[in-house]
Amino acid sequence: MQAITVRDRDAGVAGMSLADIPYPHAAENDVIVRVHAAGFTPGELDWPATWTDRAGRDRTPSVPGHELSGVVVELGYGTTGLSVGQRVFGLADWTRDGTLAEYTAVEARNLAPLPAGIDHTLAAALPISGLTAWQGLFDHGRLTTGQTVLIHGAAGGVGSIAVQLAREAGARVIGTGRTSARDRALALGVDTFIDLETEKLEEAGEADVVFDVIGGDILDRSAALVRPGGTLVSIAMPPKVRPKDGRAVFFVVEPDRARLTELAARLRDGRLKPLVGAVRPLAEAPSAFAPGTRTPGRTIIRVTEDRTGDRS
Ligand SMILES: NC(=O)c1ccc[n+]([C@@H]2O[C@H](COP(=O)([O-])OP(=O)(O)OC[C@H]3O[C@@H](n4cnc5c(N)ncnc54)[C@H](OP(=O)(O)O)[C@@H]3O)[C@@H](O)[C@H]2O)c1
Repeated sequence: MQAITVRDRDAGVAGMSLADIPYPHAAENDVIVRVHAAGFTPGELDWPATWTDRAGRDRTPSVPGHELSGVVVELGYGTTGLSVGQRVFGLADWTRDGTLAEYTAVEARNLAPLPAGIDHTLAAALPISGLTAWQGLFDHGRLTTGQTVLIHGAAGGVGSIAVQLAREAGARVIGTGRTSARDRALALGVDTFIDLETEKLEEAGEADVVFDVIGGDILDRSAALVRPGGTLVSIAMPPKVRPKDGRAVFFVVEPDRARLTELAARLRDGRLKPLVGAVRPLAEAPSAFAPGTRTPGRTIIRVTEDRTGDRS
């Protein structure tokens, strides 16, 4: 089967290529998914998990991409909860071969059923951004109705979903980003937009939850914007500066079938719209990874259009 592989850590994107690799093995509680559409995170060639397994051993050549939408074609020993022919979407393990491949092996519990009528391309844009936004706002940030949340990078992959979920939860939303992001952020529903290129972040005022996706100086300065008792949530890097009277949380997104199911329901009835900036075929995945080639929103890799066995 065909997949994108990376072999050489030093080569970066130049070391990515379309290759023939063996069909994956379904271990206990796994499913094999025929991947229809896959998402990736541009920074994943810098992640240790791209190069080594959980024990720290070299696992190259490895397949990048860790979110997918597709159809189950095989069950591992003992797997329950999903069936062959079922449409699914979700997260693939960080330390196993990923989703830029025609087939991938995934723990069944990391996937949720994908309702009929939702396109695989849109579904593949949701697992990482959707779960990260949900877990950041509600599980770690403890955001509730009537509170104020400041969301950095509000027109980006995670930020755009966070804005929509926070609005739905009845929060007041302040979004930030570059000048070019203003219109997209306002269209998503932010109440106030702070242009980080021309305005001072401190003009945003205080928030019960500050959700940062940028890191660095923006993250450092965000600690002072957290109201007493509030939370600074960071996903790009652990905060160095903590709120004086509040919590600081850095986390890595976790698979969660129940939340994926709730996100899919919102996708189906139009309450949630992931921003898909570009759709490219599998062979073009290496150039989609290359710095400077990205369009705003998620780039989705369309792996196959084959609908054989798809019970949608
Ligand atoms: N810990 C976790 O579990 C987890 C999960 C998901 C993502 N992440 C990480 O979180 C980060 C964001 O992910 P994403 O998918 O949302 O990325 P994204 O789609 O690129 O969104 C980031 C947004 O922030 C904006 N931005 C970045 N730097 C900025 C700056 N200095 N000033 C103003 N705006 C700025 C970007 O604008 P431009 O596009 O114009 O630069 C973009 O709109 C990445 O580093 C990713 O690896 C972590």
